[in-house]
Amino acid sequence: MKRSLPSRRKQAFKEYQTDHFTVSGTLPIPNQLEEPRMFRTIVQAFGPPNEVVVGEPYEPQVPGPGQVRIRMLLASVNPSDLVTISGAYRSRTPLPFVPGFEGVGVIESVGAGVPELLVGQRVLPLGSAGAWQDMKVTEARWCFPVPPDFTDQQAAMGYINPLSAWMMVREYAPVPPALVAVNAATSAIGQMIIRMLNRVGVQPIALVRRPDGHRQLMSQLGVSAVLCTSEVGLRRRLHELSGGCGLAVAWDAVGGTEGDELARALRPGGTLVHYGLLSGTPLSPRLRDEYPEARIVLFRLRDWVHTTERHALQLALNEVFELIRDGTAASKVAAVFPLSAIRQALECEATPGRQGKVLLSISSDAKTTNSERSPIIRTP
Ligand SMILES: NC(=O)c1ccc[n+]([C@@H]2O[C@H](COP(=O)([O-])OP(=O)(O)OC[C@H]3O[C@@H](n4cnc5c(N)ncnc54)[C@H](OP(=O)(O)O)[C@@H]3O)[C@@H](O)[C@H]2O)c1
Repeated sequence: MKRSLPSRRKQAFKEYQTDHFTVSGTLPIPNQLEEPRMFRTIVQAFGPPNEVVVGEPYEPQVPGPGQVRIRMLLASVNPSDLVTISGAYRSRTPLPFVPGFEGVGVIESVGAGVPELLVGQRVLPLGSAGAWQDMKVTEARWCFPVPPDFTDQQAAMGYINPLSAWMMVREYAPVPPALVAVNAATSAIGQMIIRMLNRVGVQPIALVRRPDGHRQLMSQLGVSAVLCTSEVGLRRRLHELSGGCGLAVAWDAVGGTEGDELARALRPGGTLVHYGLLSGTPLSPRLRDEYPEARIVLFRLRDWVHTTERHALQLALNEVFELIRDGTAASKVAAVFPLSAIRQALECEATPGRQGKVLLSISSDAKTTNSERSPIIRTP
């Protein structure tokens, strides 16, 4: 028996739902099932990323005046995405939202006042979330061209960590032979900071959380010592290594007791550059009172990016692109998942000992059915 159109739509939509993972709430039925379906991830409520990030079909907006519509190609999964999804910045994150602060795409249409010439340009859309979807609509002024010699992978990891590491090293690296330390040294940005310090003749002490698995990695970087933070006596070891003088600078992406210990290991007038909260715990609020002689600075890339002229941002990106080319600010890729496999991507992201960044492959996914969908691509 031939089914009516609404019933066929319902059936197709049911298949669509099972093609993807379970989607909470009521979803709109796509209007034109013949068209390639647009797919996005969305967060309706803050919470653990693997519970609250869901997928849904959607109809992308038409770009308005000054806007462009970007067909996203590849996006990164970064700790800042996970922290935002968990609700840490809920005061400045209106719900619902499409996550993803970093990714690369191609301009596919432009709104009024934007040159048609931009169509087809590969760009990094900065300054907002929304990379984890097929089409992102954003302001043209926030789009920065990707160098033609860059691969999509280099581009998709070419902004947040490279620019942050470059700014923090440029601002705070001391003159050698001052002693410095970098924690979360196995992280992508930790490795970049170490390589950038090496370029200015500084060999930092690297702090890692796991006793295993770091030796080979650290042997490829110029470090003066590797300390494991799960072993006791961290502050004593840092004190010994600095000949009793203390650290000149420490870069802290962890916070909590580990960040506190680093601050306490500074020499008088030393600087703690606190830029991440991988432990999920803030630094002690008493730290500044306990150690008034330590300078504790908070670095947040977004503060600079949102208060800087486009021209200055482009110049900074140009510098950083050079460092990506020569490997100083390059990142390894642990795995690439299709956007529809967001749950597996988030599981991979949370796996200790992951070697490199997790990427989401986007547009190719929109044009395939479930059975054709590309397998997980892992690269060394
Ligand atoms: N403030 C800013 O503007 C800014 C900009 C860029 C990055 N960041 C921050 O920099 C940090 C690292 O980012 P990323 O992209 O480089 O991360 P990533 O490459 O995804 O690496 C994170 C790695 O850090 C290690 N790690 C996780 N939890 C840890 C903990 N509690 N203690 C010590 N090490 C831990 C893990 O390595 P193992 O499993 O090998 O131990 C993990 O794979 C994040 O906190 C991020 O938010 C901040």
